[in-house]
Amino acid sequence: MERISFESYIRSFEVFGQYSEEYGYQLEHLLALEDNLKEGFSILDIGAGTGFFVRDFLDRCKIEASHYTAVEPSIDHVNKLKKNLNGFSLELDVYNTIFTPETVLDRKFDLIIMSHSLYWFLPNPEPFILNALNFLKNDGRVVMYLQTPYTASHILNLLFDKKLPKNRAPSHEINSWTIMDLLDRNDINYKISNLPGTFQANDIFKKKNQKMLDEVISFFFAVEARSLDKKTRSRAEEAMKMLSYKQGDDLKLNMEVGAITIY
Ligand SMILES: C[S@@+](CC[C@H](N)C(=O)[O-])C[C@H]1O[C@@H](n2cnc3c(N)ncnc32)[C@H](O)[C@@H]1O
Repeated sequence: MERISFESYIRSFEVFGQYSEEYGYQLEHLLALEDNLKEGFSILDIGAGTGFFVRDFLDRCKIEASHYTAVEPSIDHVNKLKKNLNGFSLELDVYNTIFTPETVLDRKFDLIIMSHSLYWFLPNPEPFILNALNFLKNDGRVVMYLQTPYTASHILNLLFDKKLPKNRAPSHEINSWTIMDLLDRNDINYKISNLPGTFQANDIFKKKNQKMLDEVISFFFAVEARSLDKKTRSRAEEAMKMLSYKQGDDLKLNMEVGAITIY
């Protein structure tokens, strides 16, 4: 069984993104922080992805940001991010690299965002997060978005834990409890809200969309779906079907998001 390659992960994230419905809720959550931001605030976005989330935030935020630093290892995402931020009058620093516990940046920020990048902070997210806090201004805010323990992606990883190879990256075993536990251990104050994320599953179980389902399985399990033996692949599909639920005419998977704000 093959662990997912970084290139496949980036491709499967694109498929996942077409069906995930959590970003609207995240956006409202982030915009609610506006009252704590001052004109000309600065942002550090760790694992920024394609930048569509921060673009939507900057578009709607009534307070104007003056600086944006992104740390993002995928060149494909960096190129999309630059396009997405074209047209904003922002000082822009984009580092096409990974963030590590040793990363050094030459400034501090009013707002640090880590949206669904914490699954990559392995083997233990603690030193990554403690390092990120070194770049926070005294009155700044850190906002982290990641799956809660109740999501389909987390439950699937628990169900198949014995079957799947160890040390998979990203790790969808990391969830909001993992982060809250490490913040508690370090006496760091935070607030948690659970936001109602979902994954639209209407299309992926259709016979003609097996390839798409493979991308989603690869994304959730962090293994190449095509490398799964027949029985595991078929059980993965069955488990996803059994975890999905009807909402009106739609079939959904729970992708609830834990929103953790450090203040
Ligand atoms: C699930 S995507 C989320 C992207 C974006 N923040 C969003 O919410 O749409 C995770 C991102 O983390 C990036 N990433 C992976 N390892 C990383 C690391 N060590 N430091 C920073 N970013 C990383 C990936 O390239 C990917 O773009």
